[in-house]
Amino acid sequence: MARLLDAEDYRAKARKHLPKGLFEYIDRGTEAELAMVDIRQSLDRIKFRQSVLTGHQTSDLSTKLFDHTYPNPLIIAPTALAGLVAHDGEAKLARAACRLGIPFCVSTQSVTSIDDIRKGAPDADLWLQLYVWKKRDLTWQLLERAAHAGASTLVITADTPLSPKRAYNQHNGFSVPFVPSLRGICDVLSRPIWLSTVMLRYLMTSGMPTYAHYPAAFKTAITRQAISDDVKIESGLCWDDIDEIRGRWRGKIIIKGILSVEDAIHAAKIGADGIVVSAHGGRNFDMAATPADVLPEIVTAVGDQIAIMADSGVRRGSDALKYLALGSCSVLVGRLPLYGLAADGEQGAYDVLSMLIDEMHSNLVFAGVRSLDALRKTRLPDLPPLPVG
Ligand code: FNR
Repeated sequence: MARLLDAEDYRAKARKHLPKGLFEYIDRGTEAELAMVDIRQSLDRIKFRQSVLTGHQTSDLSTKLFDHTYPNPLIIAPTALAGLVAHDGEAKLARAACRLGIPFCVSTQSVTSIDDIRKGAPDADLWLQLYVWKKRDLTWQLLERAAHAGASTLVITADTPLSPKRAYNQHNGFSVPFVPSLRGICDVLSRPIWLSTVMLRYLMTSGMPTYAHYPAAFKTAITRQAISDDVKIESGLCWDDIDEIRGRWRGKIIIKGILSVEDAIHAAKIGADGIVVSAHGGRNFDMAATPADVLPEIVTAVGDQIAIMADSGVRRGSDALKYLALGSCSVLVGRLPLYGLAADGEQGAYDVLSMLIDEMHSNLVFAGVRSLDALRKTRLPDLPPLPVG
């Protein structure tokens, strides 16, 4: 087996292993995919001011988040349909996270429900990402289910009022539940290992994979249309809804998808415990600001009131360190663990995140600082202006 040494190696292996429709669903962005380019550039233009001859040979990546000190400043981000990337993929991600001492955030749109993930990963620090459905009673039932499964933290996604335009999914015939099309069937048949180890395994055990948290009627293609309005993501979600959820959820609440100071202040005022400064990995709004650009002003405004996390575009340890240096206390990674999961299941997810952590350690040593606090204090040099054109 070729050695996987880099995020790009894992990505290439995932591309080989997964049907094209599924790989592109994971890998690509929205509309003209400009946001993904912007995110990459916003991270690449940040450089660290390094110190030499410090005598530091080791580094400490531990970080405090809420009442907990985590050994690594990472969180596996919620990703819909991770269970299609590998059989039982969400439980595998949860176990990989647990081995690294970091949280795993289950998506509302997971293939395995949070209670079944808990059975497969009894010691994992499970969080639930919430898409608020139009029918609130169903949403509240999901919260109860998550609390019962021991989820410590609720991550409310605020940046997805609509299904984003992703033309490639339609070209590829990729949809959930899977609607058979000639293109889709040929695609799946072209990946016999994935077909036998993931899809056929589901078909022979739990049946056609679909969104596990959705009501039973949603899962059958015939009745899906009738019930789908109930579990449509609420496009008119507002701060009053967050207020109501605050009253219903006893654990921590994080709002994900904040990109402005005003919204960050609002989140703090309404009693959120944290926010994720996120552009959803460039998958939703192609004109979104980049987290790296807005993070400093958000940290200045609310950093002493709530926990600030960040995500989007992390492919190397230095990318994660940049978000941490700009003031986030932890960083979410979405695609990277999925590439690892596709490459080698639970071990692949563990390995790719371990690689990220190793890269973070070596970058801290090169920067000449021993800890994340010290990294923040070394200050980043003033950022050069974005290139024009
Ligand atoms: C996501 N993301 C996401 N976010 C969310 O709040 N709920 C979800 O269900 C999903 N689903 C999802 C599926 C896939 C395949 C991807 C790649 C991403 C966004 C995710 O949580 C995170 O914000 C980004 O993935 C971070 O960017 P990187 O690390 O993928 O570049």
